[in-house]
Amino acid sequence: MIAFRNGFVAFRPADASDSAAIAGLHSASWRRAYRGILPDSYLDGEIAQERLELWENRLLSSGMNRRLVLLAESASDLAGFVCILLDAEPEWGACLDNLHVRPDSHRRGLGRLLFAEATRWLMSKEPGWPLHLWVFEANPAARGFYDRFGGEVVTRKIKRMPGGAEIASLRYLWRDTQTLLNRLAGRPAV
Ligand SMILES: CC(C)(COP(=O)(O)OP(=O)(O)OC[C@H]1O[C@@H](n2cnc3c(N)ncnc32)[C@H](O)[C@@H]1OP(=O)(O)O)[C@@H](O)C(=O)NCCC(=O)NCCS
Repeated sequence: MIAFRNGFVAFRPADASDSAAIAGLHSASWRRAYRGILPDSYLDGEIAQERLELWENRLLSSGMNRRLVLLAESASDLAGFVCILLDAEPEWGACLDNLHVRPDSHRRGLGRLLFAEATRWLMSKEPGWPLHLWVFEANPAARGFYDRFGGEVVTRKIKRMPGGAEIASLRYLWRDTQTLLNRLAGRPAV
């Protein structure tokens, strides 16, 4: 168990039996963070089924050694998760595809712990690779989080999202994962 502000969490890799719980948290997080960004018709409608299908497919497909889906559980409840893919856009290094903390647990340090675990996993699998991710331009909370840990905005692109909306998105890049990990651990950058 690892302590964070107001609680303890345990980390474990996801398996196929976790798809419903992950999809439930993913949907709740998108409904909260992306209201006003993605269409209401999607957030109030097809999102639950669409996210469930995505996670069922992802957790059943082969290639688990090229991705990590890591869960943070608090008293057996899912408190957050992170997913990192090695082969999504390898010219940019690994892709942090999802990072979500349960909305009632924001700002307690859990996102930072999950980000650090994902970074450590990447460094063990592909030492020296950079890390990148996409974030909506209109998502100030997540951008504040990534800015805090030294992310560099390197690309702006209009991306087509589930639900059909086209949304301005930014690619954040960390060229040196050791420096990122130092920042996440609160150590001075070297
Ligand atoms: C982004 C997210 C994962 C951050 O997780 P979290 O557990 O709330 O973040 P932490 O508590 O670890 O924050 C660490 C630091 O990041 C910064 N930070 C976090 N949230 C921030 C915000 N809303 N605004 C500005 N800075 C923020 C702060 O410096 C914070 O340290 P502090 O609380 O001591 O000031 C979480 O807000 C989330 O799940 N958001 C919804 C989903 C989402 O947008 N995911 C990203 C998709 S690309």
